[in-house]
Amino acid sequence: MLSAKVSAALNKQIELEAASSQYYLSMASWGETQGLNGVSTFLYEHADEERMHMLKLIKFVNERGGHGIVPSLKQPPVTFKSVKAVFEEILKHEIMVTNEINNLVETTLKEKDYTTHNFLQWYVSEQIEEEALARQIVDKLKLIGDDKSGLYFFDRDLESMAAKTKGQMDKAKGQR
Ligand code: FEO
Repeated sequence: MLSAKVSAALNKQIELEAASSQYYLSMASWGETQGLNGVSTFLYEHADEERMHMLKLIKFVNERGGHGIVPSLKQPPVTFKSVKAVFEEILKHEIMVTNEINNLVETTLKEKDYTTHNFLQWYVSEQIEEEALARQIVDKLKLIGDDKSGLYFFDRDLESMAAKTKGQMDKAKGQR
């Protein structure tokens, strides 16, 4: 059974994962209007992944006798300055998410909730990967700078990265 504190903290995380999904979905839609098919495919996948993070939490809360609450969300930004600005925002956002996961882990320790602590280890590892990926993409975009053909190849690269992410997500779904 979840304590009130852990339950509230998990529901806060559900909201954050839902907001992340909406945010990346908006970035994906913007990318599509800019003709950036690889970027948008990658971001649509990323939005789906965040939704999966949210679902995993809802199901866990419910399994442990709590109630996973589906939150209302604020509208995310709809336009973005550039592809580089998008991925810089993602990196910043993921660093914030990592901090929130760490706070959540700390709450479970204070509450002596070792089951939830164990469950959250998946999120701890996931955040390491997500931050590393965002950093890697931002570095690539810094190298490309204003080079249009560089951006073209970058967009193609992201398309194949999205296919890989989808494969990992399908695997994670299978493990649920
Ligand atoms: Fe679910 Fe990107 O954190």
